[in-house]
Amino acid sequence: MKILVTGAGGQLARELLCYCENIYPFKKEELDITNRDQCEEVYNRIKPDLIIHCAAYTKVDDAENKKSEAYRVNYHGTVHLADLTKQNNSKLCFISTDYVFDGEKSSPYFETDYTNPVNFYGVSKRDAEDYIQNNVPNHYIVRTSWLYGKVGNNFVKTMIKLANINQTIRVVDDQVGSPTNANDLAYFIIQLIKTDKYGIYHATNGGECSWFDFAKHVFKQMNIHSSLVPIKSIDYQTAAKRPKYSVLDNGKLKAEGFKQLDHWKEALDRFLSTLK
Ligand SMILES: NC(=O)c1ccc[n+]([C@@H]2O[C@H](COP(=O)([O-])OP(=O)(O)OC[C@H]3O[C@@H](n4cnc5c(N)ncnc54)[C@H](OP(=O)(O)O)[C@@H]3O)[C@@H](O)[C@H]2O)c1
Repeated sequence: MKILVTGAGGQLARELLCYCENIYPFKKEELDITNRDQCEEVYNRIKPDLIIHCAAYTKVDDAENKKSEAYRVNYHGTVHLADLTKQNNSKLCFISTDYVFDGEKSSPYFETDYTNPVNFYGVSKRDAEDYIQNNVPNHYIVRTSWLYGKVGNNFVKTMIKLANINQTIRVVDDQVGSPTNANDLAYFIIQLIKTDKYGIYHATNGGECSWFDFAKHVFKQMNIHSSLVPIKSIDYQTAAKRPKYSVLDNGKLKAEGFKQLDHWKEALDRFLSTLK
């Protein structure tokens, strides 16, 4: 199977490269998904059986002030790829987010739960999901959350950097989710695309925690002694609102015969050991 990967410079795409052989990775400079002609040219040159679509405008706060840019990438860029996949009867694997949910539930979200994003990034990803569901018969939509990996910026690296500059670090303890190791997610995606089990999947590391718990575990394992102070979201204003609870139920993945991802602490320890 020939696999084209978009957003190849990003943290998830980079992990996919470790698991795939017949893979054609394209960084933004080589394939800008907002450019329909370029998408068509690259698609017709490679003739992939499947696209793993990792490219996205992922700056959640900036998306509030740059709505048209975020929408152009996350929605229109996805439409370009979806149309090509549909016309050529190939497959599309789209990576989506827990931020399609409003966070008002107090138990993990199912794939079938109603989407109601509270920020613009979430809106752009939800609209892209809807387009794919309505237009591409052979699609996988993989929703994940709180991703971290070796390349690029993420919460884990930010916490370690902050600890080098500040004595006290404040982190919110009233937003709950599931940190996810990009390498574990990549492994699941590779298993999924070998099957014809199309549809939406929730795929995250197991368990749940707040951003504060997440940071606390990083500090403990990295032997960092800066003081960590729990605060409330109301005291840490950001441009984008976040859901207060966005844990994704991974039951479908298990029911379909896939191996569940490890608990978030186990997965995080594995990642941290590579940084030490
Ligand atoms: N990170 C998370 O916590 C998280 C959580 C849930 C879901 N997701 C989803 O998971 C997927 C992978 O996330 P990630 O963390 O690996 O993201 P990432 O590291 O930010 O990678 C996204 C990549 O897309 C590229 N890109 C941006 N605009 C593009 C365009 N117009 N054409 C082609 N490429 C473009 C970016 O390039 P530049 O950096 O040069 O702009 C970047 O290399 C995304 O779909 C994201 O929405 C992420």
